[in-house]
Amino acid sequence: MPKQKTIYTCSLCGYQSPKWLGKCPDCDQWNSFYEEVKTGPSRYSSLNPETSNSCPTPINEIILNTDDRILTDIKELDRVLGGGLVQGAVVLIGGDPGIGKSTLALQAITKLAFKKKNVLYISGEESLKQLRMRAERLGNLPGNLFILAETSLEKIIQEIKNIKPQIIIIDSVQTVYTSELESAPGSVSQIRETCAKLINLSKETDTSTFLIGHVTKEGAIAGPRVLEHMVDTVLYFEGDRGHSYRILRAVKNRFGSTDEIGVFEMGQSGLSEVKNPSELFISERPYNSSGSVIVPSIEGTRPILVEIQALVTPTSLSMPRRTAIGLDSNRASILIAIIEKKLGITMYNQDVFLNVAGGVRLNEPGIDMGVITAIVSSKLDQPVPSDTVICGEVGLTGEVRSISQTALRINEAERLGFTKCILPKNSIKNTQKGHNIKIQGVETISEAMESIFKLK
Ligand code: TYD
Ligand code: MG
Repeated sequence: MPKQKTIYTCSLCGYQSPKWLGKCPDCDQWNSFYEEVKTGPSRYSSLNPETSNSCPTPINEIILNTDDRILTDIKELDRVLGGGLVQGAVVLIGGDPGIGKSTLALQAITKLAFKKKNVLYISGEESLKQLRMRAERLGNLPGNLFILAETSLEKIIQEIKNIKPQIIIIDSVQTVYTSELESAPGSVSQIRETCAKLINLSKETDTSTFLIGHVTKEGAIAGPRVLEHMVDTVLYFEGDRGHSYRILRAVKNRFGSTDEIGVFEMGQSGLSEVKNPSELFISERPYNSSGSVIVPSIEGTRPILVEIQALVTPTSLSMPRRTAIGLDSNRASILIAIIEKKLGITMYNQDVFLNVAGGVRLNEPGIDMGVITAIVSSKLDQPVPSDTVICGEVGLTGEVRSISQTALRINEAERLGFTKCILPKNSIKNTQKGHNIKIQGVETISEAMESIFKLK
């Protein structure tokens, strides 16, 4: 009988069994067993003090190289990465199938290949011919961009050691498998094991690696949320397949901020950067209709104008519906309660639907007043003046609280031709003098609403 090489482990309590079990005999959890390679002492040999050669170093004696960051020259991508790709970093790009992950990765490494970097693109999904066709659609073909159509991890590692690339792309993690495990490619055990090996290799050889992963319907990177804590950076590529624009968002980043977003547009020859996302997001806004408000929001370091839309209709349900797309729905419920209590507008018998146009997701408090204005506008059926932008955080007592980066928000609104900005009174001191835009400070939400609407 061949020697058993793998073992099944409960993901909850760590109970191990030589066979797969439906229910853990130790913690009674169902369906928690995954296959693992049996580990000998050699696998974690670096934990052994005799073989490890690391020693404590004073922090100011650690040598930093300024060229540790590699710029892809796709500015939207560089910014989301936190100012370029860090050498030796492992970046996971997640997204729905067909959203443009392979296209983005191919465009980025083509640029890097032109900067005299050796790059290796490993595809388990497309053939060499398909990849060449796609690359031709995107532009010129550099000679130091190597393509490998392979799914066996052992073969991939061998080729990486041969070519010694500086940047690797694995498209996608769901297709790579190791022959050490019996489970099918794409299963949690396979992804865990193959990615752990690739991450180790990347750290050992100081190679930057992009891992591409498909997202399941539930939104988690298929199967392995585990991957998210193993890699340095997790980026999500989002967007409506019906629309041409795509948003790249950092969910985790050991080398930069996670608030940054990059905006792209998918066209005939691949993805192009959108330099002025504000113009894009408010380009289709309706004029003089109730329920639409423009809000200057901050995404990372950049101001973006977005349109918040609300629809308030009488409900026929005992529990009125509160649906929010692109906003936190708990926050929306709080704001609806503030409207009811502080503005005296009946909301308990109204369904409220909220949407951020353009597929952006907002999670900063500075949009509170915009959300309230959109809801009140729809409820009263009175449009907000189309040249006005509104921002401010709203507290539970209906007070309007100051916001960050006021000057950036105002400049962006002014640049796009808005003539009035309603904001927290406390934030006025942070604005610059000499704006053409009219600035109105408010202290309470009722003061703000009275200045915009005719309240009864
Ligand atoms: P792709 O990068 O293959 O998606 P993923 O790797 O995330 O599954 O993108 C596929 C979609 O992009 C496909 O529907 C066609 C479209 N596309 C364009 O519109 N223009 C282009 O230049 C390219 C390369 C793709
Ligand atoms: Mg793909």
